[in-house]
Amino acid sequence: MKVSALLIICLCLILGTLGKPQFPEQEKDPKFWNTFAQRTLKNALTLQNLNRNKAKNLILFLGDGMGVPTVTAARILKGQLNGEGGEETVLEMDKFPFVSLAKTYNTNAQVPDSAGTATAYLCGVKANEGTVGVSAAAVRSQCNTTKGNEVTSILRWAKDAGKSVGIVTTTRVNHATPSAAYAHSVDRDWYSDNEMPAEALQDGCRDIARQLFENIPNIDVIMGGGRKYMFPKNVSDVEYPNVAKHSGTRKDGRNLVQEWRDRMETQVQLFVFSYSLFSLFFLFYLINSRNTDTDPSLTEMVEVAIKILRKNPSGFYLLVEGGRIDHGHHEGKAKQALHEAVEMDRAIGRADLMTSTHDTMTVVTADHSHMFNFGGYTPRGNIIFGLAPMLSDVDQKPFTSILYGNGPGYKTINGVRENVSTIDYQDNNYQAQAAVPLNTETHGGEDVAVFAKGPLAHLLHGVHEQNYIPT
Ligand SMILES: *[C@@H]1O[C@H](CO)[C@@H](O)[C@H](O)[C@H]1NC(C)=O
Ligand SMILES: *[C@@H]1O[C@H](CO)[C@@H](O)[C@H](O)[C@H]1NC(C)=O
Ligand SMILES: *[C@@H]1O[C@H](CO)[C@@H](O)[C@H](O)[C@H]1NC(C)=O
Ligand SMILES: [Zn+2]
Repeated sequence: MKVSALLIICLCLILGTLGKPQFPEQEKDPKFWNTFAQRTLKNALTLQNLNRNKAKNLILFLGDGMGVPTVTAARILKGQLNGEGGEETVLEMDKFPFVSLAKTYNTNAQVPDSAGTATAYLCGVKANEGTVGVSAAAVRSQCNTTKGNEVTSILRWAKDAGKSVGIVTTTRVNHATPSAAYAHSVDRDWYSDNEMPAEALQDGCRDIARQLFENIPNIDVIMGGGRKYMFPKNVSDVEYPNVAKHSGTRKDGRNLVQEWRDRMETQVQLFVFSYSLFSLFFLFYLINSRNTDTDPSLTEMVEVAIKILRKNPSGFYLLVEGGRIDHGHHEGKAKQALHEAVEMDRAIGRADLMTSTHDTMTVVTADHSHMFNFGGYTPRGNIIFGLAPMLSDVDQKPFTSILYGNGPGYKTINGVRENVSTIDYQDNNYQAQAAVPLNTETHGGEDVAVFAKGPLAHLLHGVHEQNYIPT
């Protein structure tokens, strides 16, 4: 009773100034909801004719850290960016006919990281946190446990089957998610030899940047950041004069981009188009330096990738990572994370326009969730970055609907919780309040959604272990 009484008082207080929550008049009519539900049912009945085709193409959209609360909040944001209330908005991924849940734990972790989970949904094998492309028999950071424990990815299986393959990411191409597609490394942080202990190098372990070019030669499309790990130390990147200050990290003096290019020049016609395009504009733009005038959006990268890959009559496999959803959340910057999620949804829409469910299976999922959530009895259409319509009945201060369980947004002033009304909580870099102070917000442990469409998409049903996805 106490809560509802408080709710009523506060709703009156706040709505008194803002007006009633707005919703379409038609929603008052039960017929509206019945008709809506009937239409949905009619659609669902068509699913009895299962798509039993054999998929020629497969696209995996991986929202790094895109837990279910992030999906819902991104849906509302997308609607609000279009001038709608947001709750009723339909994301591109919402249109997928089959949805299941994936259990994300790593073999040695209840709350997983991106490396162990990538090994699961790319290689079909659950693994230890911090490791990519190796089984749970490999121990993190111990080079001598690599040999014999390598596991291969669906990208490799597709390449071996004669398909074209591609990787598109908004993070580094040598980061945890993409690296499990081609590398076998007991340490996700071994980006170049510079990041590896001398002992690991002596024992014959290779850095991830090197493995990108050596393990699966001729990956047809590679777009993302992480270029500095491919250049020698003290060599500046001449193709990006504006970022020349970022010289390479490699101690072995190798210029992997040049080596790769020399090799690609001997390749067949198919690569010529991709070669000129991605070497000049797209390949390896540096993380956090995205210039919206010159750097491509995820949607643009996906479009170019599909154009290149679909030239192969045997089909293709494409891994697309919306990688900065995770970064936004780690920093407690929900606005950044949600805008990244909306952008990934736009990319899903673009891919949909360029492919057919007749021969293309598309899967959208996340590696893990975050300690992100939103709530607080907000009225319909409440700005997703806005306040709950009540004051705390403990400290009498307002609070934002979006909150983190832990992270850098924990803030007290003179020992008491900050009054968010005194600051701009809708700022791009605002860090939402967290219950526990941490410099970096953590991942969450709950299941993630797996959306699927296309041939045999119905086999992604129910609750699965995450390593089932590529199987
Ligand atoms: C493997 O390397 C670790 C150090 O990373 C060392 O402690 C261990 O003894 C080595 N094991 C073998 C069998 O060489
Ligand atoms: C890079 O330059 C620094 C300073 O000029 C020098 O000390 C270092 O030895 C150089 N490293 C390599 C790998 O050439
Ligand atoms: C919070 O800040 C607002 C705006 O400055 C102010 O009106 C309100 O009284 C403050 N609340 C508390 C509990 O300090
Ligand atoms: Zn993360």
